[in-house]
Amino acid sequence: MKGPIVAVAAIAFLFLSTLGASVVIGEMKSVSNTSHDVAPPDVSPCVYCHLPRDPDGDLLWANNPNSGDDFSGLEPLCFSCHDGTVTSVGSYVFDGARPDHLSNPGLRNQDCDRCHDPHDEGYGKFIKLPNAANFCNNCHSRAGSTDHPIDVDVRASNIQPIDVHWNPEEDDFSGTRLWNIEGTGPGDYMKCLTCHSPHGSEAGTDINTLAFDSTHDAFLSICQNCHYGWGSE
Ligand code: HEC
Ligand code: HEC
Ligand code: HEC
Ligand code: HEC
Ligand code: HEC
Ligand code: HEC
Repeated sequence: MKGPIVAVAAIAFLFLSTLGASVVIGEMKSVSNTSHDVAPPDVSPCVYCHLPRDPDGDLLWANNPNSGDDFSGLEPLCFSCHDGTVTSVGSYVFDGARPDHLSNPGLRNQDCDRCHDPHDEGYGKFIKLPNAANFCNNCHSRAGSTDHPIDVDVRASNIQPIDVHWNPEEDDFSGTRLWNIEGTGPGDYMKCLTCHSPHGSEAGTDINTLAFDSTHDAFLSICQNCHYGWGSE
């Protein structure tokens, strides 16, 4: 779907050539040096997401550049580039069959901007909150219904998980990820993002990366991935 971004680029050039390079939206925000600066030199990067005539940067581009399904809020704007036209990175995020973390589309700071600031690389992946792979802890004080221990060294506990590969960019949507102690890259430690992902999780779960059914508890694949001695019915 090349339509929207080509149109955006064309309009941006139109504005710039009519009004000169003084078309700058707001002074408070910058995306320079982030991967969200997709503009060629001398073109404001802001106009790829904002209407150039809005001095506060509040007005966003068309709400439904990919209309025809149930996208709403910020999602269509994000998808207008992440649909493979500008980048295919993260396109799995928009697969409606895979649950995402809850958001309230259109409400400030409760939409994608609950966790992301599209202007700022933040703590990586445009995430605006700290704690890396324990990032869920910013808002949820406990580890969910299982209250599973975190920050333990899984392999040092003599547990060798069956599947530690989870890479939705390569169509691998099952596995539990182990992290380094900081939670910033691969390692041996258990973190919130060992069992969870805010995007691309297993259908029917509370955003888990392997199947879980509370009526069968420990006998399910997410637990058996590590506690494989447990139960078999
Ligand atoms: C990748 C898309 C994208 C780009 C590029 C972008 N913005 Fe934004 N901007 C958003 C979105 C989405 C929001 C609303 C969500 C939020 O961040 O709160 C927003 C909100 C804003 C706001 C109001 C929110 C606030 O926190 O005050 C300002 C001001 C703003 N942008 C300025 C800019 C400027 C200036 C640029 C260029 C340097 C820019 N933006 C580039 C997506 C973008
Ligand atoms: C103007 C096009 C454009 C828009 C609109 C846009 N993005 Fe992006 N985004 C990109 C590009 C390009 C990258 C860099 C991808 C790469 O590394 O190849 C990126 C990267 C990202 C990444 C980091 C991915 C990674 O693995 O490092 C996140 C997260 C992200 N965008 C979220 C958003 C969100 C949320 C929105 C909507 C508020 C949004 N984007 C809107 C173009 C865009
Ligand atoms: C609960 C917090 C949260 C919300 C809400 C959220 N995200 Fe994310 N998003 C994350 C985290 C954390 C990651 C990094 C995940 C990882 O590394 O496994 C991420 C990653 C991404 C990526 C990059 C994927 C990749 O593999 O590089 C994109 C694109 C993205 N989010 C878009 C969105 C869009 C669009 C929305 C709104 C519809 C949204 N996010 C809402 C937390 C959130
Ligand atoms: C910025 C704060 C924030 C972050 C970070 C965050 N959440 Fe949430 N989460 C919420 C809010 C608020 C709700 C309630 C949903 C609503 O009303 O929109 C929620 C709801 C949930 C639910 C549904 C709970 C239920 O009882 O149905 C799950 C599951 C969940 N979050 C898991 C996670 C996981 C796992 C992470 C890390 C990947 C995470 N959250 C990161 C704020 C956050
Ligand atoms: C060992 C795997 C595992 C780890 C580690 C884990 N969770 Fe969970 N979590 C689960 C499972 C399984 C569920 C239940 C899923 C379902 O019902 O679909 C759950 C449910 C949740 C829920 C929703 C239910 C509730 O009680 O509100 C939240 C919120 C949550 N986890 C947050 C976290 C946070 C925060 C962390 C890190 C501190 C974390 N989880 C670490 C496996 C894990
Ligand atoms: C990624 C591997 C992994 C997964 C997945 C996993 N566990 Fe664990 N579990 C561990 C490790 C490591 C320990 C800590 C063992 C130790 O301290 O010696 C542990 C400890 C426990 C304990 C003992 C808790 C305590 O406080 O000592 C229970 C109960 C448990 N897990 C239940 C579960 C359940 C239920 C699931 C599925 C929701 C699950 N585990 C998924 C690795 C895992």
